[in-house]
Amino acid sequence: MKKKILITGGTGYIGSHTAVELIEKGYEILIIDNLSNSEEFIIDSIESITGTRPKFANIDLLDVEKLNIFFANNDNIEGVIHFAAAKAVGESVQKPLYYYKNNLGGTLNLLEAMKQYHIENFVFSSSCTVYGQPDKLPVTEKAPVKEAESPYGYTKQVCENILKDVIKSGAELKGIALRYFNPIGAHASGLIGELPVGVPANLLPYITQTAYGIREQLSVFGNDYNTPDGSCIRDYIHVVDLAKAHIIAIERLIHKKNKTPYEMFNLGTGNGFSVFEIIKSFEKVSGLQLNYKVEPRRAGDIEQIWADTTLANNELGWKAEKNIDEMTLSAWVWEQNYRKQ
Ligand code: NAD
Ligand code: UD1
Repeated sequence: MKKKILITGGTGYIGSHTAVELIEKGYEILIIDNLSNSEEFIIDSIESITGTRPKFANIDLLDVEKLNIFFANNDNIEGVIHFAAAKAVGESVQKPLYYYKNNLGGTLNLLEAMKQYHIENFVFSSSCTVYGQPDKLPVTEKAPVKEAESPYGYTKQVCENILKDVIKSGAELKGIALRYFNPIGAHASGLIGELPVGVPANLLPYITQTAYGIREQLSVFGNDYNTPDGSCIRDYIHVVDLAKAHIIAIERLIHKKNKTPYEMFNLGTGNGFSVFEIIKSFEKVSGLQLNYKVEPRRAGDIEQIWADTTLANNELGWKAEKNIDEMTLSAWVWEQNYRKQ
């Protein structure tokens, strides 16, 4: 019998790519999503790619009653990968109550239901945002968690702490928090990818939408940082590489290979790229010239960050494989495919 994994937020960007990888590895996938930041056709796309339709439940994690009915009707779930959260940093500053309620409340309800139904294995989507601007680069998991720059960032810190506390309390729960750096790119099929609602806040979708003619011009937020070309540096990671790490993480828990009941790993490539380098890569792979303009720095941006991935490389036996051109090209292929539909 196939092992069952529940993915919350599974119609979203990273969740859908993870669903594809898990189905291809022979798992049965259940998806919960309230479609607040994704669309139901993604279930069709996952089916087109894998030949298997994941079971989908349109449930808000804040709806305890529906959540309980879901768990009552779906037994033998081996593990949960919890992506569902609101993730726009700027919006979280405008709507802190919504972010705390959705991201913390959703996680609490999920953990309570898992406790009730004796589901032990939990993988949580965290973020490198917990490090703020690190004092030392590349940043390791031992670096201190800095005061959060936004309610969104704070929800990641608090969720990590909730997870740690529940595990410490002697519950059956075991958990892995994965701290993502900057996921970009799309599946090779061009059938799933990043689908931001409204005006994109993140760099790659802004670039591809500008190239496609949906946005007029990309603003480069600052060229006066203390970096080689003056623009900010980030560790961009291909979303399929990221998705693969989730399979390793959940299998590590299922097969009891974890060293401690709570573990945490950086997921990046270990390389930093500047905004100008990303633009250059995009122009190279697309053959287009991007319309962009240097604007003032964006509030809340850190100057530079990239991951020390030694722990994930050694412990998980995982390494990001795709290079920056593969990332920008796949994002561009997805943008064009999606717009043609
Ligand atoms: P996404 O918005 O594409 O996916 C999240 C999904 O969760 C969406 O489909 C949304 O509809 C759903 N959702 C939100 N609240 C829900 C609720 N209360 N009940 C049910 N479903 C709900 O985002 P993503 O980029 O795929 O991110 C996935 C996770 O990874 C998030 O937790 C995010 O904070 C984290 N993360 C993302 C990034 C990034 O740059 N994309 C970086 C670090 C961490
Ligand atoms: C942000 C969050 C991070 C979150 C992630 C996903 C911060 C500090 N970090 O990452 O916690 O997990 O989003 O939502 O807020 N840029 C431009 N022009 C644009 C857009 C971006 O120049 O139109 C630049 C930014 O200044 C930054 C880089 O591109 O230097 C990447 O930005 P972005 O994609 O928004 O991600 P982060 O801010 O790194």
